[in-house]
Amino acid sequence: MSQTHTRVVVSRRGGPDVLRMHEEPLPSPKPGEVRVKVRAAGVAFADLLMREGLYPGTPRPPFTPGYDVAGVVDADAPGWRAGQPVVALTKFGGYAEYVCVPAESLVATPTGLDPAETVSLVLNYLTAYQMLRRMARVTAGERILIHGAGGGVGTALLELGKLAGLEMYGTASRGKHEIVQSLGGTPIDYKTTDFVARIRERTGDGVDAVFDAVGGKQWRRSYEALRGGGRLVGYGFSAGTTNGRRDLAKLAVAFVQMPRFAPLTMMDVNKQVAGYNVDRLRTQRPEWYRRDDGRGGGRGEDRARERRRMTVGHGSAADAARHAVSRATSIGRRAAAKRSRAACERAGGRIVRGCGQPGRIHLENPRRLRIFRGSGQLGRLCFPVLWNHRLTQRE
Ligand SMILES: NC(=O)c1ccc[n+]([C@@H]2O[C@H](COP(=O)([O-])OP(=O)(O)OC[C@H]3O[C@@H](n4cnc5c(N)ncnc54)[C@H](OP(=O)(O)O)[C@@H]3O)[C@@H](O)[C@H]2O)c1
Repeated sequence: MSQTHTRVVVSRRGGPDVLRMHEEPLPSPKPGEVRVKVRAAGVAFADLLMREGLYPGTPRPPFTPGYDVAGVVDADAPGWRAGQPVVALTKFGGYAEYVCVPAESLVATPTGLDPAETVSLVLNYLTAYQMLRRMARVTAGERILIHGAGGGVGTALLELGKLAGLEMYGTASRGKHEIVQSLGGTPIDYKTTDFVARIRERTGDGVDAVFDAVGGKQWRRSYEALRGGGRLVGYGFSAGTTNGRRDLAKLAVAFVQMPRFAPLTMMDVNKQVAGYNVDRLRTQRPEWYRRDDGRGGGRGEDRARERRRMTVGHGSAADAARHAVSRATSIGRRAAAKRSRAACERAGGRIVRGCGQPGRIHLENPRRLRIFRGSGQLGRLCFPVLWNHRLTQRE
């Protein structure tokens, strides 16, 4: 086995160009840790915020992002055997060939699953499940509004919400309406429509729960969309970014415009406001984490495990996916995974050759987020050299 491995490093705060590859000796697990050979790493909006220096608790650069991984246990450890498939919420460090994680963070997964699919369950489906069940405590027949319904968490909410028998509305730009509809939601184009008015028009008195990671003044509007007994779950603040990049002026405005909810007025209208942070809740309620993540959303919701088929060409998948997230062009979950060229071709992808630039990436079909890389020289690494790649997107 190679005694070195490669990881992606954020060299300083900034855009995708600050990512570097770093080769180093294999990490040694500390007591209580298990070393995982990473087969697929999720690419989340949170990774991008970390790169921009906007995510609370982000270490000073250089550091390795990567909120969640799917892989195999690298060597026998107490309670774990080598080769056992696992997933973990790493928060940092997942964009690497090997990562050491506390044993209690590991969740065993069945053998034979595609790591690029199982990694989707860790952050997005855990987040969606816990917000639905633990925070909003939805019950069958209730109505919900999901902002960013075409995104990673949004599509997970739709899928789990459908299985829970909810009536669902989802804000999304027009290009994502088809996927929102196919997952059982009624799409609302937030760019051209007042979503509160549309919700009132469709429901009469509003929805039972809203899931809002936009924040800023939108939290006020989401609160207005609730009916009596309704719950607003805030779980992000993308209002302070532009195309996934830090925008300090926007951040300041969003902060000032953010509603300050007062218990007295909430009491008067019978509405609730909840905050959700997946990582914090994991440490506050570890038993929930193990139960919710291990079961991928609980009995009856197993079909969601099959979700988000992503075919990712080996090569700079991480970079392509991050570009896609920055531009909000992606639908569903992204993953960076090591795949053979043959597997890409079998999956129906188009390998781009002779485009004059090594490593040119074509985002073939944003609905499935197939990312392919043209120069096939990098089979050894999960995340090869990043900075000389270009993303071209075709709708
Ligand atoms: N608190 C937690 O524990 C936790 C856990 C996971 C994720 N998050 C947060 O959840 C958010 C979503 O993450 P993700 O990975 O799902 O991101 P994502 O895949 O990039 O999806 C975000 C979606 O929001 C849409 N959008 C952007 N502005 C919008 C607006 N004003 N109204 C409605 N939709 C809008 C974007 O596309 P269109 O504009 O094209 O529709 C995009 O589809 C991020 O802010 C992330 O930090 C929080």
